[in-house]
Amino acid sequence: MSRRDDGGNDGSLTTLWVCLGFVPLVAVFATVATYIRMELPNNVKGPEEANVGQCPQGYFKLGEMSDCLPWLSCEVIKRDIIVRELIGQGAVKQVFLALWRGNKVALSRLAVPKFKADFIHGLEMLKGLQSVNVVKLLGFCEENHSILTKYHPLGSLNNLNAVMEQERYLGLNTWRTRFHLVIEYVSVLNYLHNSPLGTRVMCDSNDLDKVLSQYLLTSELHLIVNDLDALPVVNRSSGVLVKCGHRELSGHFVAPEQLWPYAHELPFSDHLMPSYDEKTDVWKIPNVVDFLLGQVEGSDVVRFHLFELHRDCKRETPQHRPSAQTVLQTYKAVYASLTQEADVPDPRNDL
Ligand SMILES: Nc1ncnc2c1ncn2[C@@H]1O[C@H](COP(=O)(O)OP(=O)(O)O)[C@@H](O)[C@H]1O
Ligand SMILES: *[C@@H]1O[C@H](CO)[C@@H](O)[C@H](O)[C@H]1NC(C)=O
Ligand SMILES: *[C@@H]1O[C@H](CO)[C@@H](O)[C@H](O)[C@H]1NC(C)=O
Ligand SMILES: [Mg+2]
Repeated sequence: MSRRDDGGNDGSLTTLWVCLGFVPLVAVFATVATYIRMELPNNVKGPEEANVGQCPQGYFKLGEMSDCLPWLSCEVIKRDIIVRELIGQGAVKQVFLALWRGNKVALSRLAVPKFKADFIHGLEMLKGLQSVNVVKLLGFCEENHSILTKYHPLGSLNNLNAVMEQERYLGLNTWRTRFHLVIEYVSVLNYLHNSPLGTRVMCDSNDLDKVLSQYLLTSELHLIVNDLDALPVVNRSSGVLVKCGHRELSGHFVAPEQLWPYAHELPFSDHLMPSYDEKTDVWKIPNVVDFLLGQVEGSDVVRFHLFELHRDCKRETPQHRPSAQTVLQTYKAVYASLTQEADVPDPRNDL
C-alpha cells in the first residue's frame, strides 16, 4: 500500500509546536508514566512502555513515527483511511481493520443509531483516560461516528486460550505470564476507579464473555482496556451512585446489589431499583481471574494463594469487599512471594 501524505506544512508546524510548547508537559507525562510503572512489579513492563508518555494529551505516535501527531481529524479520516474487513462487532460498534499511511489501524463505527449516546460517551472516556492501560486513540470524527484506535491483531481477551496455543506463544503459556495478565487486569480496574475522570465503573460486564470482549490482548501479551462505552461515575462526596443500564439483571456473575431486591413482592421497576458503586467490579474479579489463570502447571497453586482474597471479593456487602487497589497490592505480594526463590524475568520480554 502506498504511503499517503498528510498535509506537509501542518505536519512541520505541529512538530515545532510539540518541540517548543510542550516540553514541560512531556516532562510531567514522563514523571507520571514512571510513577505508573513503579506500581508494577519490577520485572513487569507496562504495555507499550516505549510509547507511553512521549506524546502530550491530544497527540499520538504509532510504530516507527518519530514525532507525535495530533489526533486525526474528520478531514484526514475521510481522505486517508482505507477501510478493510470487519474484525469485530459489539452492541454499539462495528470495528473494521483499516489502513492509514500503510499502518494497520482499527476503525470503529456506530452500528446502531439508538446507541449514539453510548458511542459519544465512549469517545469522551477514550480521550480523557489515555494511559498505559487503555487502547491508544489515533483520531475520531464525531459527525461520522468514527473512532480510530491502534489495531491489535490478537483481538479481544476472549482469544487468550487460543492465542496461547499458537506456535509463537508456545512456552509462554505459564502461570507467570497469566499472573502478569491478572495484575494488568486489576491495574485497569484500579485505574478506572481512581481515574482523572473520577471513580468509573466498568458497567458493560454482565457476563464473563462480555467482560473479556471489552479488553484487548496486545502482541506482547499485555492486557489493555478498549471499550469504554459504559463507564458511569460514582461520586461519594455528592452521594452519586450508578446503575448499569435500565433493565433487570440476573444470574450469579453480576454482584448481588445489581439484582432486583424485591423479586418476590414486585415486578422490576428501574425507578425503584437501588443504585450501587464500583464494588460491583470487585465482585467480578475472581471469575475473570479464574479465566486468566487457566489450566496450566502452577495455576492451581496461585488459586490456592488467592483463595482468601477472592472470598473477600465475594462478600455480600459491597463495603466489606476490598478495593481494586488492595486487590492489586495483594496480587503483587503473592506474585513476589511465589517468585522470590527463582527470580525469573517476565517471560514476555523475550517476544
Ligand atoms: N483496536 C482493536 N484491535 C483489534 N480488535 C478490536 C479492536 N477494537 C475492537 N476490536 C474487536 O471488536 C470487538 C468489539 O469492539 P467494542 O469496542 O467492544 O465494540 P462494542 O462497543 O460494540 O462492544 C472487540 O471485542 C474486539 O474483538
Ligand atoms: C463520512 O461521511 C461522509 C458523508 O457525510 C462520507 O462521504 C465519508 O465517506 C464518511 N467517512 C467515513 C470515514 O466514514
Ligand atoms: C463530585 O462532587 C463534587 C461535589 O458536588 C464535585 O465538586 C466534584 O467535581 C465531583 N467529582 C466528579 C469526578 O464528578
Ligand atoms: Mg464491547
